[in-house]
Amino acid sequence: MTQVDVLLGLQWGDEGKGKIVDVLSPQYDLIARFQGGPNAGHTLEFDGKKFVLNTIPSGIFNEKTMNLIGNGVVIDPIILKRELDNLKKAGHDPVAKGKLVIARKAHLILPTHQLLDAANEQKMGKDKIGSTLKGIGPTYMDKTGRNGLRVGDTTLPDFKERYNKLVEKHKEILSHYEFEYDLTEKEAAFFEAVEFIKNIPHVDSEHFVNGYLKEGKTVLAEGAQGTLLDVDFGSYPFVTSSNTTTAGACTGLGIAPNKVGAVYGIFKAYCTRVGGGPFPTELDDEVGETLRQVGHEFGATTGRARRCGWIDLPALKYAIMLNGVTELIMMKADVLDGFDTIYACTHYEHNGETIDYMPYDIISVKPIPVLKAIEGWKTDVTKVSKIEEIPAKLSEYIAFLEKELEVPVKYLSVGPDRVQTLELI
Ligand code: GDP
Ligand code: IMO
Ligand code: MG
Repeated sequence: MTQVDVLLGLQWGDEGKGKIVDVLSPQYDLIARFQGGPNAGHTLEFDGKKFVLNTIPSGIFNEKTMNLIGNGVVIDPIILKRELDNLKKAGHDPVAKGKLVIARKAHLILPTHQLLDAANEQKMGKDKIGSTLKGIGPTYMDKTGRNGLRVGDTTLPDFKERYNKLVEKHKEILSHYEFEYDLTEKEAAFFEAVEFIKNIPHVDSEHFVNGYLKEGKTVLAEGAQGTLLDVDFGSYPFVTSSNTTTAGACTGLGIAPNKVGAVYGIFKAYCTRVGGGPFPTELDDEVGETLRQVGHEFGATTGRARRCGWIDLPALKYAIMLNGVTELIMMKADVLDGFDTIYACTHYEHNGETIDYMPYDIISVKPIPVLKAIEGWKTDVTKVSKIEEIPAKLSEYIAFLEKELEVPVKYLSVGPDRVQTLELI
């Protein structure tokens, strides 16, 4: 029997998961998204084309790979339909090719979930989470509150009644906010999209994935967001509403912990965050602006400017521990090409102490990063395609990270395109 490999982000999301899942997909029979929803924006580039996927797993461009949207994902039928329509226009039709299935236990995002998200964020004002406003939090609330609607419910004769019952509840909650809304158009689009997603095969992800394993086939679980946005272990309440960690792959697909194989932890050579919340190494200056411009750090889903800063080793060590990372993947090394000196945060000064972990009171008391200066490589690495061509200073940076993090770096990414990827070990 085979095991499920897991690929997930070790920072605050947007590490480059989409690109690497696409690169690795020829090695796998099945790619399975296990949590999150269309708050995700996973970018892939190849043959001069660029795609951003929100709900669909990043294995769809590989001819032989099957793709599953797992039970832990929350699905907005309108967005899923739009994604598939756009792909079809670009000549890719995973549904027609039988390469996409969805879990019937995945929960549905209703138009009113989005309204609740927006009303809540508006009320929070300057303390808002900075949600992508896709209705993620309210949908997971209905899931754990045992009120939610699931993909499988769309085929039941009383789906409309169930929908109306939940929407009435949402309208009651919305009446307590000063929030104007008009549901008519969204509701029509929702029901049209619900009909559309009935054409995608519905499966029980737990049987589907375990069936693959039993047949000796290979499976890669694709994470969304990042470890530091995990609802339990992230910088709460500035987090998303799902478990973004390896444990989330078990509940989000229906696999036992002993079925987890390799865990690929992906991180940028620096660090970004979009939305509110603590970010100890944030650079609110020209250097941060340079990282943003050179790295094109603008959200794939919302277009918002991402906050930028130096790599944070205490945060990465925490993420590695939580996920049981077996191999690291370092992204966007090329963004640091022009720097004379780069920095890595090795510790924090916090409440008069030097610590190397993320403190509980990280929101009320900002930790001060202790930075180590590292000489830059000052070389364009975007065309580097062989290990021998990697500049010595970049190799030293990687070796330094491996020593600190105690996990080897297996892949190095030097540009957004599929081909700009090196296998180091
Ligand atoms: P994801 O959410 O983790 O899949 O990441 P996003 O797609 O939101 O953000 C990653 C961004 O970096 C995308 O625009 C990618 O095209 C781009 N990217 C990925 N790897 C590299 C790299 O090695 N170098 C550069 N310059 N860009 C990269
Ligand atoms: P990918 O998969 C980066 C952030 C939002 C906000 C917080 C909560 O592309 O890495 P939510 O919409 O979940 O209620 O927002 O989480 N966030 C992300 N940041 N990448 C993502 O996904 C994100 N998904 C959510 O900006 O701060
Ligand atoms: Mg993204």
